[in-house]
Amino acid sequence: MSNTSLLNELPTQVRIVEVGARDGLQNETAVTTQDKVTLINSLATAGIKDIEAGAFVSPKWVPQMADSMDVIKALDLPDVNLTALTPNLKGAEAAHAVGIKEFAIFTAASEAFCQKNINCSIDESITRFGEVMAFAKSNNIRVRGYVSCVLGCPYEGEVDPIKVREVSQKLLALGCYEISLGDTIGVGTAKHVDELFDVLLPHIDKSHLAVHFHDTYGQALTNIYTALKRGIATVDSAVAGLGGCPYAKGASGNVATEDVIYLLQGLGIEHGIDLERLASAGWSICSALNKQPVSKVSLALKTQSTDQ
Ligand code: HMG
Ligand code: MG
Repeated sequence: MSNTSLLNELPTQVRIVEVGARDGLQNETAVTTQDKVTLINSLATAGIKDIEAGAFVSPKWVPQMADSMDVIKALDLPDVNLTALTPNLKGAEAAHAVGIKEFAIFTAASEAFCQKNINCSIDESITRFGEVMAFAKSNNIRVRGYVSCVLGCPYEGEVDPIKVREVSQKLLALGCYEISLGDTIGVGTAKHVDELFDVLLPHIDKSHLAVHFHDTYGQALTNIYTALKRGIATVDSAVAGLGGCPYAKGASGNVATEDVIYLLQGLGIEHGIDLERLASAGWSICSALNKQPVSKVSLALKTQSTDQ
């Protein structure tokens, strides 16, 4: 196969779902509400159109997200799709009260992870989501579904791709418009990703799938490239590679958005995001966290600008 024909199989445009303010900050030391508001506003200025802005979960389980209501109330971004995690009806009602127009429900392809994360079995989670979906439907809110541990589980090890397919199909049947496939602990490799899509794509249209890869073993970009080649055109990522997972010890953050944008630029794929502004948003939130971005692209851009 020639290089040109390979590039022809890639999507021409990719939608980035920026999860740094939620998935990232849920597992960093707490920052102020104003830091979060500034971050989300800067991401919007950089051209990001889909931003997960918070989580309406128990503050006892994830204290870093306890101010999600205040964060969202302080935002005025009519051109941005602000989304939030809503694990149950209580979360959905709270998110709706501050004007969230897209909910995210989340379960897993691994029973043990589901229990640790949301304190119920996979089947119980699907039942619980029924009320969230009904509430969303009556309020004209669309719902995204996450499936965690699609390439491995911190408690159960290998995860069967058929289980991933079954859980994804249940969420789609409930009414989710898209399933975000989470490599929660960042253990997958390109072969795993291909094998997963071999099982999913005959049953689920690629337009209903997104990838959400954490970068613990440094495989996220390669795995994203593998997914792009299977026609996946929605990628979740976190500015500066923020975060980890509170219920997956040792897992690092999502792939850095800056690194994904650089990859897309190199492939000639449209994304609508200003890389310099994005990197600057990453440096600002990292300064509040007293750390450096976990993005090679961001670090390289910084070195380049200080050398000039
Ligand atoms: P539970 O204890 O089973 O629920 O928690 P409950 O209904 O018995 O309620 C217990 C307490 O939580 C009560 O308060 C409720 O009011 C409160 P208390 O009476 O003890 O004072 N509560 C809530 N408070 C605020 N908002 C709510 C809410 N619901 C109950 N919505 C629950 C069940 C799901 C709430 C809990 O397990 C929880 O919040 N878990 C946190 C899950 C989480 O946020 N995990 C991290 C995000 S998922 C992730 O990172 C993976 C992802 O990125 C994809 C990937 O990488 O794979 C998405
Ligand atoms: Mg995640």
